[in-house]
Amino acid sequence: MSNFVRTLNRFIIEQERLYPEATGAFTALLSDIALAAKIISYHVNKAGLVDILGQAGTTNVYGEEQAKLDVFANDVLVRSLAYGGKLCAMASEESEDLIPIPDEVPMGKYVCVFDPLDGSSNIDVNVSIGTIFSIFRRVTPGDGPGQLEDLLQPGYAQVCAGYVIYGSSTMLVYTTGTGVHGFTLDPSYGEFVLSHENIKIPSKGKIYSVNESYYDYWDEGMRNYIRWAKKADPSDGRPLNSRYIGSLVADFHRNLLKGGIFLYPGDNKSPDRRKGKLRLLYEANPLAFIVEQAGGKASDGYRRILDIKPDSLHQRTPLFIGSREDVEIAEAFIQGKRKP
Ligand code: AHG
Ligand code: MN
Ligand code: MN
Repeated sequence: MSNFVRTLNRFIIEQERLYPEATGAFTALLSDIALAAKIISYHVNKAGLVDILGQAGTTNVYGEEQAKLDVFANDVLVRSLAYGGKLCAMASEESEDLIPIPDEVPMGKYVCVFDPLDGSSNIDVNVSIGTIFSIFRRVTPGDGPGQLEDLLQPGYAQVCAGYVIYGSSTMLVYTTGTGVHGFTLDPSYGEFVLSHENIKIPSKGKIYSVNESYYDYWDEGMRNYIRWAKKADPSDGRPLNSRYIGSLVADFHRNLLKGGIFLYPGDNKSPDRRKGKLRLLYEANPLAFIVEQAGGKASDGYRRILDIKPDSLHQRTPLFIGSREDVEIAEAFIQGKRKP
């Protein structure tokens, strides 16, 4: 392979040569997402200097206050994707219903669901945040506007999934089912350059990531797992290291590169938290596709995340994701098959 700078666009074209079934539509779609990521990254890095911090004074579908950057990132992604002519519908964490493609734009054969700004609680304190996206081929016939059915597909039907992490550097990590590849934004000339080709997650790690403040609200199996993880036992490398940033993309990315498990179980703090906090369509599914392509595992404690058939755009799911052996140990505790 040429040792010339392998930008995201060049890499996708190389991939299209290797996998003829991949069509040029991906190049356009990923370029639209990469453009949105560059714009968001520019504003994230300017946050504090421009009026983009703080609350927007609006609320999202959950009644959660929206940060200005939530709304800004959503607007940038919708605009960047809507006019590319590759989509027939979209959905976003920040919009209650399906987002239609403007009438004047030709309908494409893909749909995209996304979390425009993940880790909103960390925006104003300069901690890494992200964007998460997931792409499906439409399933409804014809070439008219996309339907809800096109968006509510099980995760195994994804054709592309990825995230952007706005951290010490801005990285875009994606998969189209032929491995996981990471690109780092070189701001000097505004290109995403291949920096992590074919990422594989270690089969077992030493990190567990969970918000332990919910401990009293967890089911017994989850409490047993955490007690096990924290117990000193040099024979198998415990206690595990606790690392929790509070931005799913940042916690996931660290564990993807170093190994480990991220856990967000359901809890009994309130009825709407029985399935946890994270959303299936635009948080769990895309990261589950990526982690499986990297050799890891993602489940709701009982079922493979990618096998769950969504009923609604914003449905939540418990999420246990990361190194395969770590997820399998957590599942054994959660299912009551193992005690500390
Ligand atoms: P979002 O900002 O898109 O709503 O996502 C926030 C999520 C996720 O990024 C993170 O893992 C989780 O919220 C943290 O939740 P807790 O504050 O309950 O730990
Ligand atoms: Mn999120
Ligand atoms: Mn979000």
